[in-house]
Amino acid sequence: MKDLIATSLRYENGQLHVLDQRRLPAEESWHVCGHVDDLVELIQGLAIRGAPLIGIAAALWIGHIAEQGADSRQLTQLIGTLRAARPTAVNLMNYLDRLQHRVNQNSIDESRLGTTISDEAVAIFEEDVKLCSAMSEHGAALVRPNARILTHCNTGSLATAGVGTALGVITTAHHEGKNISVWVDETRPLLQGGRLTSWELEKAGVPYQLICDSAAGSLMAAGEVDIVFVGADRIATNGDFANKVGTYALAVMAKHHAVPFYVVAPVTTVDPHCSSGENIPIEQRDAREVRGVGGSFGECCWAPVNAPVYNPAFDVTPAALVTGWVLDTGVLDQNDVKANALGCV
Ligand code: MRU
Repeated sequence: MKDLIATSLRYENGQLHVLDQRRLPAEESWHVCGHVDDLVELIQGLAIRGAPLIGIAAALWIGHIAEQGADSRQLTQLIGTLRAARPTAVNLMNYLDRLQHRVNQNSIDESRLGTTISDEAVAIFEEDVKLCSAMSEHGAALVRPNARILTHCNTGSLATAGVGTALGVITTAHHEGKNISVWVDETRPLLQGGRLTSWELEKAGVPYQLICDSAAGSLMAAGEVDIVFVGADRIATNGDFANKVGTYALAVMAKHHAVPFYVVAPVTTVDPHCSSGENIPIEQRDAREVRGVGGSFGECCWAPVNAPVYNPAFDVTPAALVTGWVLDTGVLDQNDVKANALGCV
């Protein structure tokens, strides 16, 4: 496969390198993806994270293995293993299903299997770059000069192959000279906002202030938030969507305070087989993430060591709370989402 470079993913000299997002912003360390179990562990541990990026990393790795000579039976098995790595972000399933389809088409005569699968993986990467740019331009058109934008989690170049989804809108509006500023939710419990979005905004020179998630409501009440942009991990055909836990509460508060609330995602995040938010599987994560912190933060447990914990990684925001869906095809209303989903994958 040819070399491919993104902020947190590189295919270079025949190897897949991933930036360990758990260690940001303190340290920029890269892993080379070897065995499938390593890749699954990196995805489950959130070294590789963000809905599009999970799928793109998995696709590139499968492309790499195909090029090394794996046969259709081996590829099918590996695709199955990666498909189960995380349950909520549908980009992973969409991309792997796309590769599986190609594997099936080439299973009788496997002479072109390696090239077909690796070409498809490269196409997935390059397509995401374009989807991000399109979304960002559509979303930036909604941003008024001097807007104070609020966002949640990390949806930028770290989470995609391109400029990002919601954060791509924000950086694009900044580059267009709109004099924006950003309220960044720190995003408990794993602090994707505090660690990653602030890192990206700082690099892009965008003025921002980091806030505790629970400060968003009083900021809206004080008239300090003009517009909210968030990303998505899966959009149902009725427009309901799953995103990082805390998004639903933001949407309720935005509605209460009449603040426009937009979800930004590529068509690869729309699940044509999911008719409503109640059918979206929500990942439950380790209790230790809520009882304290670990890993690159050091080890600290502030709750009783066996405190019972409920730790859903995502929540579902109903379509009724959404002002508009910013997809690569434009700013959509609820009915358009379904029309886009039908054309998906
Ligand atoms: O658990 P994470 O960090 O993978 O969750 C990521 C999010 O919820 C993002 O908002 C979403 O994937 C959109 S990324 C462009």
